[in-house]
Amino acid sequence: LTSERYGVQRLPFAHVSDADLAFFEHLMPGRIVTDVDELKLFNVDWLKSVRGCSKVLLKPRTTVEVSEILRYCNEKNLAVNPQGGNTGLVGGSVPVFDEIILSTALMNQVISFDNVSENLNKYLEELDFIMPLDLGAKGSCHIGGNVATNAGGLRLLRYGSLRGTVLGLEVVLADGSLLNCLTSLRKDNTGYDLKQLFIGSEGTLGIITAVSILCPRKPKAVLQTFTTCKGMLGEILSAYEFMDSECMKLVERHLKLANPVTESPFYVLIETSGSNSAHDEEKLSHFLEQVTAADLVVEGTLASDDKKIKALWALRERITEALTCDGSVYKYDISLPVEKLYDLVTDMRTRLGRSAKNVVGYGHLGDGNLHLNITAESYSHSLLDAIEPYVYEWTSRYRGSISAEHGLGFKKKHYIHYSKPQEAVLLMQQFKAMLDPKGILNPYKMLPAKAT
Ligand code: FAD
Ligand code: MLT
Ligand code: ZN
Repeated sequence: LTSERYGVQRLPFAHVSDADLAFFEHLMPGRIVTDVDELKLFNVDWLKSVRGCSKVLLKPRTTVEVSEILRYCNEKNLAVNPQGGNTGLVGGSVPVFDEIILSTALMNQVISFDNVSENLNKYLEELDFIMPLDLGAKGSCHIGGNVATNAGGLRLLRYGSLRGTVLGLEVVLADGSLLNCLTSLRKDNTGYDLKQLFIGSEGTLGIITAVSILCPRKPKAVLQTFTTCKGMLGEILSAYEFMDSECMKLVERHLKLANPVTESPFYVLIETSGSNSAHDEEKLSHFLEQVTAADLVVEGTLASDDKKIKALWALRERITEALTCDGSVYKYDISLPVEKLYDLVTDMRTRLGRSAKNVVGYGHLGDGNLHLNITAESYSHSLLDAIEPYVYEWTSRYRGSISAEHGLGFKKKHYIHYSKPQEAVLLMQQFKAMLDPKGILNPYKMLPAKAT
């Protein structure tokens, strides 16, 4: 086994011995994979961009088994790589060296299924928004206190708990130091979500000095395509996705999918899921009429039968697949203020010129989440140098997130500082050391090694 891969030195974890295998076999008879060919699938990621060389994969069925495995591995200093469906896009799901792969493939049982189912307010109302939290105590309680107690309130059923609607926090810690996690991004998967630790901490961990909160629009129709859409379809809207014309060309070319509308620079896919489909359809066609009449869109098509719905979704969902058919893919998953979202794509297109085959943008517009992807005939170091760190600097300049939803994994861990201050990274490393002192869980991933 080489002691260095991808410029990373193997840490001094133990190597799996025959005695270890015997232990696992005894614990989970018949659910250990050591066959080299069978292991290949689990050692390589979905994008086929990174490959580990694990010699054993374990398939626990219960939480007790997972607990036994980890207890044993921790004691024996064996590194473990947790793996689910292995569809991660940042190289976090496969080992770097010979880490034991702990697969959750057999942990797929459905455990239970339920079939049922005043000042700030005034300020927001004037702007046509509302607070997602509404308490009988409004007018008296403070937002810092609401967060520190994780208050529920009357609107929880509709808008969810503060754990979802608090987007950022600023906290003063016991030693007086400031932790600034005051972002207002809808998506930001750069490391641990430290703010969650303070929501509901009842003042025992720090004093909350500022809060950023996601406020829903006051429920009524409002005009412009996204604003109009949110205003008109707000309560039934379940997806607002976009793709550019380059993406459309790729799914047409590589996957032979048909574009159902006139060729355009951008395409938007809107999905509603209200309780009454006839009502949804009526609202959607009304929306389409309005945005077409206002020249916001050139043409639209509506789908209510399953086959057509699936065909429309395939255009958006299969972009990732089409990109892999186009060549070597450089993937970026960025959160930015919506009005800046596409500028990064056009800027990158100009910057890279003919050195890239395609520079495309698609993603979850409704969440301010852009997937910027660049393809080339083959992998080139000089192309990578032209993209990075430029793309991260650009994102950081507009206070975006360098990983909105895919995480940092193995590939992006060194770029965390473009989205998180040094103190936050340090705190994450300290939490990691506290919960996993030997560092056996998914080593080499997510966080940069602590400076020694
Ligand atoms: P894996 O890929 O196996 O693992 C991902 C990470 O989670 C690894 O670090 C792994 O160690 C860890 N992990 C897995 N299981 C556990 C566990 N039980 N306990 C602890 N750690 C664990 N992502 C989005 O956010 N939005 C999208 O719209 C989206 N669309 C995608 C479309 C395609 C075609 C593909 C290939 C990927 C897409 N992804 C998307 C990325 C990916 O699917 C998600 O990150 C997904 O949640 C990973 O789940 P998984 O079970 O495959 O986990
Ligand atoms: C998506 O939105 O399609 C996924 O996140 C996958 C990707 O980024 O390619
Ligand atoms: Zn996505």
